[in-house]
Amino acid sequence: MHDSSDFPFDETLSVLKSQLPANLQSPRVGIICGSGLSGLASSLKDSVLISYEKLPGFVQSTVPGHKSILAFGLIGDVPVVAMLGRFHPYEGHKLSSVVYPVRVMARMGVKYLIVTNAAGALNPNLAVGTIVVIQDHIALPNLTGMNPLLGPQISDTYSRFIPLSDAYSRHLRRLLFLSAHNLLLPSNALAEGVYAWVSGPTYETAAEGRFLRAAGADVVGMSTVPEVLTAREEGMEVMVLSLVTNMVVIPDGYRSVREEVEAELAGKLTNPVLDEVVSHEEVLALGKEKGDLMKTLVEKTIQLITA
Ligand code: 6GU
Repeated sequence: MHDSSDFPFDETLSVLKSQLPANLQSPRVGIICGSGLSGLASSLKDSVLISYEKLPGFVQSTVPGHKSILAFGLIGDVPVVAMLGRFHPYEGHKLSSVVYPVRVMARMGVKYLIVTNAAGALNPNLAVGTIVVIQDHIALPNLTGMNPLLGPQISDTYSRFIPLSDAYSRHLRRLLFLSAHNLLLPSNALAEGVYAWVSGPTYETAAEGRFLRAAGADVVGMSTVPEVLTAREEGMEVMVLSLVTNMVVIPDGYRSVREEVEAELAGKLTNPVLDEVVSHEEVLALGKEKGDLMKTLVEKTIQLITA
């Protein structure tokens, strides 16, 4: 739960003001770059990079593949701010720290938040490398007392009870699909789906994967939802893109070890069960491979927002 000392807005904003030229002081779009997806920074025009260390209230990203830099610049002629490296509760950060950058973005004037992440696929129809446009979420931590908005309201302009049925902007999702059409992307490059937020840092067991799938989720990951809730409280429009980096292994049935041993003792051959495991290296490698496509899609969408 947060208190007002978690949010040193005046200090943070004055550092930012002192470092930024006039044309970058009021970014219109905020971007949060997920695992391996920080390449976006390289194509910002007039960019100014500020490390999180210099910013009061910002913590450090400790996850390999995440930097700790806030990048300002222009995409077309739209001023944007991008987090290269995000914070996760599993790193030991308080939820209030995880979402602080979103609150700072709001105070700089950001109206649109675009979030990317790496996720595992629960829906067997998705393939590794697919970009899933998130339409809704299931957040077990929110339902069990780990909601980033728990605590006193930090502005009396917010409503206390934030609706989430419209959390993922239909307007932005339309622009994303129009951008994909303009880029002549094959239709299987993109999908729409539901994101399940879990706290990590362990990946799911097979049974947990089946549970989340049965609940209606298409992909699962350890980030994003705290920032989405905060952005909605701050009145922003939100879009989330999940890159499928691996399939969550959720076999339909558990093959009994007891039956296997008994069959072998009775002289019957059984096929070996291969235990597949997911690794962070695999997640990062896919981010690198698909990073350029994610970047182009985000850039095109941003240019359509104000077109
Ligand atoms: Cl399989 N699970 C979770 N929780 N997060 C992931 C992932 C899987 N793959 C990438 N991120």
